Amino acid sequence: MERTFAIIKPDAVERNVTGKVIAMIEEGGFKIVGMKKILLSKSQVEGFYYVHKERPFFGDLCAFMSRGPVITLVLEKENAIADWRTLMGATNPANAAEGTIRKSLGVSIEENTVHGSDSPESASFEIPYFFNQLELV
Ligand code: CMP
Repeated sequence: MERTFAIIKPDAVERNVTGKVIAMIEEGGFKIVGMKKILLSKSQVEGFYYVHKERPFFGDLCAFMSRGPVITLVLEKENAIADWRTLMGATNPANAAEGTIRKSLGVSIEENTVHGSDSPESASFEIPYFFNQLELV
């Protein structure tokens, strides 16, 4: 079993489609082992996305991710990291495959509805950024 980290982003919370995303997660065979709704501060987002700090979109990304609540999740299944990235679809919803979350619900490359860890190393940083061991059940 492998665990990955996911965020349902502010654009999805604002449009009341978090239930649709969670349904796709469960139908995709993932077990939700951690879930919380939180409003991130700009500095908390900056710390989370520090690997992107030199990118031209970093400021906009941090403003977007702190403009409203998000739902953070830890998902478990075999091959969870790769399978969650497949279910999310391409970063830009315009390029995402049919049946993916970003194709179905994404708005733009920035407001792309969901985040997922891109590697075991990222998951090892991202999961404990939001959850302690007792919150994963
Ligand atoms: P995510 O998987 O959360 O990781 C970093 C985020 O940066 C990504 O999803 C997008 O929402 C955003 N992003 C990536 N590339 C761009 C871009 N070219 N312009 C704006 N936002 C981007």
